[in-house]
Amino acid sequence: MIELELADKTHDEARQGEALIIDAPQRGNARKLYIESYGCQMNFADSEIVASILGDNGFETTGDYKEADLVFINTCSIRENAEQRVRNRLSQFGVEKRRNPKLIVGVLGCMAERLKSKFLDEEKLVDMVVGPDAYRDLPQLISQVEDGQKAINVLLSREETYADISPVRLNGNGITAFISIMRGCDNMCSFCVVPFTRGRERSRDPQSIVAEAQDLFDRGYKEVTLLGQNVDSYKWKGADDSEAAGIQVNFAQLLEMVALISPDLRIRFSTSHPKDITDEVLYTIAKYDNICNYIHLPVQSGNSRVLELMNRTYTREWYMNRVDAIRSIIPDCAISTDIIAGFCTETEAEHEETLSMMDYVGYDFAFTFSYSERPGTLAARKLVDDIPEEVKKRRLAEILVKAQQTSLYRLQQNVGKTLRILVEGTSKKSKTDYCGRNDQNAMVVFPATEEIKPGQYLNVLVERCTSATLLGRIVD
Ligand code: SAH
Ligand code: SF4
Ligand code: F3S
Repeated sequence: MIELELADKTHDEARQGEALIIDAPQRGNARKLYIESYGCQMNFADSEIVASILGDNGFETTGDYKEADLVFINTCSIRENAEQRVRNRLSQFGVEKRRNPKLIVGVLGCMAERLKSKFLDEEKLVDMVVGPDAYRDLPQLISQVEDGQKAINVLLSREETYADISPVRLNGNGITAFISIMRGCDNMCSFCVVPFTRGRERSRDPQSIVAEAQDLFDRGYKEVTLLGQNVDSYKWKGADDSEAAGIQVNFAQLLEMVALISPDLRIRFSTSHPKDITDEVLYTIAKYDNICNYIHLPVQSGNSRVLELMNRTYTREWYMNRVDAIRSIIPDCAISTDIIAGFCTETEAEHEETLSMMDYVGYDFAFTFSYSERPGTLAARKLVDDIPEEVKKRRLAEILVKAQQTSLYRLQQNVGKTLRILVEGTSKKSKTDYCGRNDQNAMVVFPATEEIKPGQYLNVLVERCTSATLLGRIVD
């Protein structure tokens, strides 16, 4: 298992299901919380909400579980191996618990929601199981455990957005932050467990989103990523009995509201859904320089029959049309994607269509996965997971090779160009280098100088590139 700190990770790497340990300087002799997160950015953002709720209840975070009073693991169910990783980690916490029987171990997030009380039966060391909409109940659940009982709350909500909770930003780089703009998902992609673990889609009050972004900017942050499973279906309506009665805000309008905070605040967002992304959103991105020209547009498959079985509700042609619209409205827009290899009944010819789609789009980056059947999903109930493991593996390898080719091609187009980048900090590989991203989300590394500070915008002339990084030097 890989444990990495957010400062060393891009949000996109985090998407791939690695772990984040939230760490913070300790003060006083408060009780100590250790929290580890798996899965998507939403889970990482949720851990910051949990840290905030518990901070208000006398807990401080620690980066060392061996000194913690409370260990939380914020879990992901998206693929079987994500769950396996969590179980392995839990057995390590079990060793600690035998040493320190007072230690409280809690499972949060999507696996908690999927397995509910079964978790308490299966994993004896677990004291509490808490679903993603129940974090306000944590202090009460902790008291219950302290009274010697097991505690569980996996109620999903139609309203909870934690809008009023200001997340504790821990272990970040102080420059980039996530903001959840909605929760849940109303799509029913047949392979996907998220609608079951995260519940119904709901959008957060735009004023609270703008206030959170403004506060981050005032504290020196320079980039926010607006998060939702399907940001294009963001829709907020003022309650009939409130001052905002009759007001509606869609995603394009929300983007604009956040962009207007300051031209020095960059806006990113994830994830866009091909069926919902509108030209209005594309024109808004094109209109504001500080809305990044980068769209994560998961295709999943390049074949219309497979897409239908996946219940993605678009066809190959529709997806291509959306890509054409992006290319014409935002000509220098980077596009990344998610792809699943070996979905139920996928033929060789259909797999080839995924490869040809990758050529058509020329993705800047692709996250690739082998299909993993999830209990309770539409696919698990209605379709047979009939592609042999070795075929899935081979198709995945072919997709990966193609992804590396297209992303290298995209990176190479930058050599010789001067890019405006936001300095994020020192490079992972060398302390004498700084790194930052350009608008299109490419990582750029360049020699550090004394005057440069994280959070600054700089022009860097790109001199060469490796398979994933651009290398260059600062120019005026
Ligand atoms: N809301 C996002 C995706 C969330 S999950 C969207 O709609 O695109 C992130 C990615 O995990 C998905 O895009 C998909 O490619 C992958 N994924 C989801 N369920 C999976 C499964 N059962 N097996 C393999 N990959 C899966
Ligand atoms: Fe899952 Fe589909 Fe919702 Fe994405 S849009 S979270 S893939 S159901
Ligand atoms: Fe995983 Fe839940 Fe996110 S299943 S990908 S942590 S919404």
